[in-house]
Amino acid sequence: MTEPEPIELGSRFACDVVIVGGCGHAGLPLAVAFAERGAKVVSYDISDRAIEAVNAGRLPFHEPAVERSLRRAVNAGRLVASADPAVVAAAEHVIVIISDLDEHASGRPDSIRAALARCSDHFRDDQILILRSITTPGTTAIAEKMVASRGIDMDVAFCPDRIAEGMAMTELFELPQIVASRTARGLERASRLFSRLTPELIPMTVEEAELAKLFTNAWRYIRFAAANQFYLIASDIGLDYERIRQCLSRDYPRAGDLARAGFAAGPYLLKDTAGLARANPSFTLGRAAIAINQGMPGYLMSKIELRYDLAAMTVGVLGMAFKGGSDDTRSSLAYLLADLLAAKARDVLCTDPLVTSDPDLLPLEEVLSRADLLVIGAPHPQYRDLRTDTPVVDVWNLRRQGVLG
Ligand SMILES: NC(=O)c1ccc[n+]([C@@H]2O[C@H](COP(=O)([O-])OP(=O)(O)OC[C@H]3O[C@@H](n4cnc5c(N)ncnc54)[C@H](O)[C@@H]3O)[C@@H](O)[C@H]2O)c1
Repeated sequence: MTEPEPIELGSRFACDVVIVGGCGHAGLPLAVAFAERGAKVVSYDISDRAIEAVNAGRLPFHEPAVERSLRRAVNAGRLVASADPAVVAAAEHVIVIISDLDEHASGRPDSIRAALARCSDHFRDDQILILRSITTPGTTAIAEKMVASRGIDMDVAFCPDRIAEGMAMTELFELPQIVASRTARGLERASRLFSRLTPELIPMTVEEAELAKLFTNAWRYIRFAAANQFYLIASDIGLDYERIRQCLSRDYPRAGDLARAGFAAGPYLLKDTAGLARANPSFTLGRAAIAINQGMPGYLMSKIELRYDLAAMTVGVLGMAFKGGSDDTRSSLAYLLADLLAAKARDVLCTDPLVTSDPDLLPLEEVLSRADLLVIGAPHPQYRDLRTDTPVVDVWNLRRQGVLG
């Protein structure tokens, strides 16, 4: 690969890009991607643990594809992490990528506003503020007003992140990037920055782009809810949804996107659906999707209780992350399932091959040797060929042996 051209440095700025929330799952791959393309990047974050890891060239979370590029960027001096909000003044482009709602998608959606307030003393003329993560329509307009009220000559843009966790280092360079700003200058500057990563840019108005971001995640979440609803209908009359799905979609492309049943969770899909529902009372489809997807552990639990005498059993939950192949437990329904099981079973033991944030997790071998019943909580590939004589409840049908063991 040829060496990327460095991004032109504005003469007044020591760095090209500062990322607020730059040590997180979305912010850090973005910082690394810009550094790969020759930019000088600062990751501003409030997590001392994450900052220490990044400056040592280590990832604070599991995403193997980012690790090598991170080390290269840090060693080359193109990426540094800092907890000092004053670093915000050092870069021409200020990208904000933090969560806007708490993990239950409730409460006042003001963390982006709080983050902006915390670093806005360091905003300067000629910078561009680029929001990347919003969960409520109208957040960009709020940022524009805040900048205007401070009398700073700063462009504001919204360029949403649409990357799937675990895919960042491919998708940042391959997916088209939506760019939006109310001013021609803002649009031009945001476009110039992101054209360093990806050849295809999609200009939209700010309000269109905000809805585009929320629709993207809500659509995916609703599709999972439709699959889960069909699963409930089939299993209520004793039929195997997965078998029906495979048969109806075989050589029938119009049904090729019908998903498997499973726990649909994680930090983006639920929050964006909930954010859209908060702002739009008429979004009944979104509310129904939340009820169906969040209700899956309770439904599975009712089926397990019909078949097994839980009070006499130790149950092992295999996989606590919100999806297979991830170490991220945010909004993971495996924890809700473990809580529901804990109320009924003699004991519940949890394990996960990737999660390191939970000290109560046990090694797989111990769970396998002590449990009378196993429930897959996250479809990690490690469980696909698991050998055990203990019955396994497997809502994803990962092991191709049916759901209820
Ligand atoms: N496909 C998508 O829609 C998609 C993909 C990626 C990210 N996102 C958006 O990005 C947001 C962030 O997601 P994430 O997975 O990176 O979360 P994360 O929790 O992994 O990262 C957020 C980071 O921000 C830091 N932070 C929190 N408050 C801060 C503040 N005031 N100042 C500076 N740093 C602060 C945290 O310490 C953390 O390191 C999500 O809410 C989502 O809206 C969306």
